Amino acid sequence: MRKNIVAGNWKMNKTLQEGLALATELNEALAGAKLNCDVVIGTPFIHLASVVAAVDTKVIGVAAQNCANKESGAYTGEISASMVKSTGAEYVILGHSERREYYGETSAILNEKVALTLANGLTPIYCCGEALDVRNANEQNAFVKNQLDETVFNLSADDFKKIVIAYEPIWAIGTGVTASTEQAQDTLAFIRSAIAAKFGQEIADGTSILYGGSCNAKNAPELFAQPDIDGGLIGGASLKVADFKAIIDAF
Ligand code: 13P
Repeated sequence: MRKNIVAGNWKMNKTLQEGLALATELNEALAGAKLNCDVVIGTPFIHLASVVAAVDTKVIGVAAQNCANKESGAYTGEISASMVKSTGAEYVILGHSERREYYGETSAILNEKVALTLANGLTPIYCCGEALDVRNANEQNAFVKNQLDETVFNLSADDFKKIVIAYEPIWAIGTGVTASTEQAQDTLAFIRSAIAAKFGQEIADGTSILYGGSCNAKNAPELFAQPDIDGGLIGGASLKVADFKAIIDAF
């Protein structure tokens, strides 16, 4: 079901104690507030169970930032989707450009991760987005469409309905350079049209599509006012409650 969502991605930041303090402060800031969006925080694995216990999960959903592409067994150092589920987390961020770039995540690996995430009743927040050279060549639509074709467009319609898409142009992540409102809206509208072509207009209209990349309190109101932008995936600005709350309040 299409919803407005503001999701934080803490990336590899915060010790357990710092993360718990951040989650607790956010929980207090949102208690009793009238919210026009779902709020999610994507924490490191080791924080998940403690953060779930520390927040009102009816107000703040908790996400892992990754999961293994194997179900269980001799995969030293990996964390399975069922382990994530057992913490009480509800979402898994998958396909982030940092994981594709630094950890070699391919479409084949991501297909396995998406399948295991869905099989465990978790919601994938599936990331896509192009690098600067692709944008400069004005080939972003074909690039993103290919990322989707190779992965989540292989899902059944029933499974596709369960996922959230996040478009994060790599050149906008952590750079302070946000995609212009027009660039973000145009690409999200394109993604929605590609979903419609693949799964039909009803499913396209029901899919939450988020923008990510240097989203902040200042640019969020204009971004979130666009017809195809259903929220944001927020990196740096999710690490301070005042900044993150201001983005939540942009809805
Ligand atoms: P920034 O908001 O820090 O640019 O990060 C965006 C992001 O990568 C969220 O997943």
